Amino acid sequence: MTEGPSTPAGLVGRTLGDYTIEAVVGRGGMATVYRARDRRLGRAVALKILAPQLAHDHRFRERFVRESRLVASIDHPNIIPIYEAGEKDELLFIAMRYVEGSDMRRLVQSAGPMPVARANRLFAQIASALDSAHANGLVHRDVKPANILVADDDHVYLTDFGLTKSSSAEAGLTSHGHFMGTPRYVAPEQIRGLPVDGRSDLYAFACVAYEALTGLPPFQRDTELALLYAHVSHEPPPLTPYRPDLPHAVNQVTARALAKSPEERYPTCQAFVSALRDAISGSGGVQGGVHGGVHGGDGDEAGASPAHGRPAFASGPSSSHSSYPPGSSAPTSYPPVSHPSTSRPPVSQPAVSRPPTSYPPGSPDDGAATAPAKRGRRLPLGPLIGGCAVLVSIVVAAALILTRGGDTAASWNTYPGSVAAPFTIAYPATWGTAKTNGDQWMIATPATDEFNALFAIPGNTDWSTVNPIISGQPERASGIFAQVNNALSTSDSPVELQQSLQSALPGNVAFTGAPMAVTVGARPAVKLTGVAGDPQQGGRLDFSAYVVRQETGESSVLITFFCAKCDQGLIDHMVNTVQFTP
Ligand SMILES: Nc1ncnc2c1ncn2[C@@H]1O[C@H](COP(=O)(O)OP(=O)(O)OP(=O)(O)O)[C@@H](O)[C@H]1O
Ligand SMILES: [Mg+2]
Repeated sequence: MTEGPSTPAGLVGRTLGDYTIEAVVGRGGMATVYRARDRRLGRAVALKILAPQLAHDHRFRERFVRESRLVASIDHPNIIPIYEAGEKDELLFIAMRYVEGSDMRRLVQSAGPMPVARANRLFAQIASALDSAHANGLVHRDVKPANILVADDDHVYLTDFGLTKSSSAEAGLTSHGHFMGTPRYVAPEQIRGLPVDGRSDLYAFACVAYEALTGLPPFQRDTELALLYAHVSHEPPPLTPYRPDLPHAVNQVTARALAKSPEERYPTCQAFVSALRDAISGSGGVQGGVHGGVHGGDGDEAGASPAHGRPAFASGPSSSHSSYPPGSSAPTSYPPVSHPSTSRPPVSQPAVSRPPTSYPPGSPDDGAATAPAKRGRRLPLGPLIGGCAVLVSIVVAAALILTRGGDTAASWNTYPGSVAAPFTIAYPATWGTAKTNGDQWMIATPATDEFNALFAIPGNTDWSTVNPIISGQPERASGIFAQVNNALSTSDSPVELQQSLQSALPGNVAFTGAPMAVTVGARPAVKLTGVAGDPQQGGRLDFSAYVVRQETGESSVLITFFCAKCDQGLIDHMVNTVQFTP
């Protein structure tokens, strides 16, 4: 029984179930952790009591109990042992092993960049715990320094599995455009509301490792939104300018672990950690040696990476990194900004476009496909699409002939296709060069940076950079944003499709009319039209979105045309030039 008030401070000295609460250990955004004593066994426990309002969210409560049980079932030396999870007097609590020591956040805050030997020792334990959890089908979802407890003997315990603040965190932004995870360490796919798996934890772990080695997380921005945008869109800065004692090969390892696309990351956390260790030590074909830790002799502790002499660049960052002086912050301007060029190979596909060509309306250039599409099996499409598709395509073709919409643009560029957007499409040459963001999305618009920033984050509520264009230069406020998207509903229900599209587009989305079955690139598709608007101010964009079910699995190709003032003939023309790449 809880005695007395249920405010965090008021619980000290009270009892909750079998636990006598002795002291507050720490406080996070969603819970307070106490040191308590289990009266049955007489041992010290850490009692995490969740904020009362979370207990009222039944989805959160169910997931909390389910995941706590799952974690409790994993027997791994680096995963915090859970003794009990449950609810008492309307308070959700977890009783777990009490760890005498610190956590990674406090360690880095108090001691700065970590000596490599200690870092290697801690990283190996974190990786082992995460890989074990992943092998058990569990994704942590909130890997961050505060959730990595470090006992006095440097034994690591990973804690807080699945305890993102809300079940909506699985979908990135909430309907109010507020992100519920921990923005400093969150993977791009988690921000974008795509499914997360162990590789999302790997990304967050790489952010933690970066911070442990440099004292700073890879991305720092002034606002939460800018930070989220950096995760989805900016290359991580190299690490060596902050740690000139480490070989440059380390940058390639962190860049791969921080790749935007989960497929480009290391397959496991242990693979990442051993690549990092090899890069630090200069083994495994990597050039350069190791130079202990930043704290003098610390790096030569037992178990540390072997010290093999100073690397040639130990005197400081190379000139190509001179805009990143050690100890300085990463750039904070936003948007658009990209990190200074780095020595690492690009993880993303470069933007590809061809010089403007004269493009006869309605006759797509079929020689442009360059990048392979990865997805391949055909899914049966439902009644929504099936019956009307042929009819509608005939109507669209007839409309094209009648309106000659394609004539509205004098010359055309051709997007050649990519993994991100596996189709070729002709678009007005005045829109310049289309940009491809790795295997994430493509965008073609006269105002690339501004609209890239808007569309990159689903549900984006910050329209401040595009509003002046929409009101002052509406002719520049048009374009295409396209991506393979596996968060869109594949059900035949128009309402579900609309709802899932709502979360993929920026701002407040309203539809005009019902979804319509059409044909795009000879494939059945659904067209949805509507308006996306700035929730704060007047900016608004009309859109025509085409959802083309992929031939395999759960994903769709989403092609969104947006415009302040739409020329439907132009959109129809562009749609008519779409050809899917093989
Ligand atoms: N089992 C434990 N033993 C000892 N200290 C712990 C234990 N679990 C957590 N702590 C400490 O309690 C503090 C608060 O933890 P909590 O998980 O509530 O917050 P957080 O992880 O900092 O933030 P968030 O609410 O965003 O998860 C942590 O900083 C940690 O040092
Ligand atoms: Mg925590």
